Amino acid sequence: MKLLVTGGAGFIGSNFIRHMLGKYPGYEIVNLDKLTYAGNLENLRDVENDPRYEFVQGDICDAGLIDDLARRVDGIINFAAESHVDRSIEDPQSFVITDVLGTQNILEAVKKHGVGRFLHISTDEVYGSIPVGRSSVETDPIEPNSPYSASKAGGDMICRAYYHTYGTPVIVTRSSNNFGPYQYPEKLIPRLTTNAIDGKPLPVYGDGLNVRDWIYVMDNCEGLDVVFHKGDAGEVYNIGGGNEVANIDIVRQIVADTGVSDSLITYVEDRLGHDRRYSLDSNKARALGWTPRHDFASALSETIHWYKDNEAWWRSCLSK
Ligand SMILES: NC(=O)c1ccc[n+]([C@@H]2O[C@H](COP(=O)([O-])OP(=O)(O)OC[C@H]3O[C@@H](n4cnc5c(N)ncnc54)[C@H](O)[C@@H]3O)[C@@H](O)[C@H]2O)c1
Repeated sequence: MKLLVTGGAGFIGSNFIRHMLGKYPGYEIVNLDKLTYAGNLENLRDVENDPRYEFVQGDICDAGLIDDLARRVDGIINFAAESHVDRSIEDPQSFVITDVLGTQNILEAVKKHGVGRFLHISTDEVYGSIPVGRSSVETDPIEPNSPYSASKAGGDMICRAYYHTYGTPVIVTRSSNNFGPYQYPEKLIPRLTTNAIDGKPLPVYGDGLNVRDWIYVMDNCEGLDVVFHKGDAGEVYNIGGGNEVANIDIVRQIVADTGVSDSLITYVEDRLGHDRRYSLDSNKARALGWTPRHDFASALSETIHWYKDNEAWWRSCLSK
């Protein structure tokens, strides 16, 4: 099978490509990535000479390029996105362009060339903030609150429309907050870990009690693999780790694992429109045979140690 993975030089995409090449000796992967600030070919150094792997630099908004690549593959997995909420607050338009128009561009090529399967990667943030006591299911209303989550929701909606209108074989996954190696050091865990290593302040939004449902990136990659192969076209699948943790507790673990003083913790003005809580019900994906395998506390400690052991990687990201 030949797959087109878009955004494969980013955090989750690079872990996914490594997972797929390792698990399926017969698969070939074309990685299309624009190499924005978040894309980094260092993430895939270990597979770049694999004859089953090919890298193409380009934009999912480039209709001619997507058309050309789609005609040569059996399936497409779309990770390409602008992905950072804080950046979306500063510059919403670039999010709409890539996350909505780029997705529609891929759908058009899937439709035209009869690509067998399109997996579109979305987020639990499209459900909006979830009250304590309940978890989002796939049939819940979409209530995005940030320009990032609104642009991802737009991508989900155009996927839905292509399935219902044209029968395009698209599946959407909505995963919770990922953590693990190769995450650009702007997101909570890598940013605060790298700050701690440098003895810098550890900024925490608001009261630090915002809750996220964390998933180790390899558990997500395994979930995406299962949904890609076994999911039904036209369906949405939540992929959550079931680890609901307040931001401040993540920060405390980073303080403990890096051995810095907790006086570095600095509460800062809350993010605009900051959602209080996300929580996913993942029973639909679990019914396909997937289950997250990694213990949260150990995976978090391993991740913190990965950033301690890979300073050259994150320092080069920050110097870009
Ligand atoms: N990280 C998370 O916790 C999380 C959670 C749920 C869903 N997601 C979704 O998963 C996907 C991957 O997230 P990530 O954390 O790996 O993001 P990332 O920012 O690390 O990587 C995004 C990648 O997409 C590439 N890209 C951006 N615009 C592009 C374009 N127009 N054309 C081609 N390539 C482009 C970038 O160069 C980068 O390599 C995104 O769609 C994101 O919305 C992420």
